[in-house]
Amino acid sequence: MSKYSKDVIQMLYQYQPEYISGQFIAEQLSISRTAVKKVIDQLKIEGCKVESINHKGHRLIQLPEKWYSGIVLPMIKEQNVFEHVEVLETTESTQLLAKQKLVGNNDTFLILSDEQTKGKGRFNRPWSSSKGKGLWMSIVLRPNVAFDMITKFNLFMALGIRDAIQQFSNEQVEVKWPNDIYIKGQKVCGFLTEMVANSDGIEAVICGIGINMNHLPEDFSEDLSQKATSVRIHASEKVNRYYFLQALVNHIEQRYTQFLNTPFSSIREEYIAASNIWNKQLRFTENGKQFFGEALDIDNSGFLIVIDENKEQHCLISADIEL
Ligand code: BTN
Repeated sequence: MSKYSKDVIQMLYQYQPEYISGQFIAEQLSISRTAVKKVIDQLKIEGCKVESINHKGHRLIQLPEKWYSGIVLPMIKEQNVFEHVEVLETTESTQLLAKQKLVGNNDTFLILSDEQTKGKGRFNRPWSSSKGKGLWMSIVLRPNVAFDMITKFNLFMALGIRDAIQQFSNEQVEVKWPNDIYIKGQKVCGFLTEMVANSDGIEAVICGIGINMNHLPEDFSEDLSQKATSVRIHASEKVNRYYFLQALVNHIEQRYTQFLNTPFSSIREEYIAASNIWNKQLRFTENGKQFFGEALDIDNSGFLIVIDENKEQHCLISADIEL
């Protein structure tokens, strides 16, 4: 990618649906018209739908499939939650990178990568994050709250992510307490929330979100094919990842504001109604121990109340649940 791709695509995005001349782009970026032409040719090779007409100029006809920071940045900036946004082609794990980058500053930020080579899920499980198909990102927020509020944060985020996926899915999107989002019994998204805290409270919350976006059934490995699904599989058409990202950030922002200002009890009913764990036998793993039981309720603190096979009641703050 040329070092001017970001700026050229940003200009094309900002002026769409208008045409802008090569001369204008060249002047704005202080480069030659030949350099502009080279960048635009390259963008076209990469799959960007840019229309070029003599004496009129160039215009972006449609948002590309590939992530370009020149488009992501102005889209997210309009929304305000993150002080900076980083867009990568590849990285080991956005979560790992976010944890490295939060040290020594007080910034809020978002890291997005087209591919992760060592994506990690909960309990250190590998997270399949192939190129181009999904939305792999980590956000760092700095809520000024006590560290035990992390559980509540997680519950609000679940609804925010659910809201975004619901906007694109024709089927009902459900939450599997505490960290998964499902459509028709299959996992479409997993997220994990980690934090850095001291005795005064939380320094940073790092929330890593992995959404299977444009996968078709054949894109999943044999191992995942029964368990996983994608937004695309339940949408009318291929999902534009930019519009999805914009909706996601918007919903995250709304739920984050709600998290900061209202108790969990204010969304408890909504959370319970969105959950898919009721009236079924479930296998729970809590701190390495397994048991079977049924979920009864979620209390005002967001704890899951479960009754096991021996009729013993448990109050879970977190667990791994198999449907
Ligand atoms: C899970 O269901 O176990 C949670 C999966 C979380 C995956 C996301 S993808 C972006 C971020 N980077 C990672 O390495 N993991 C999270």
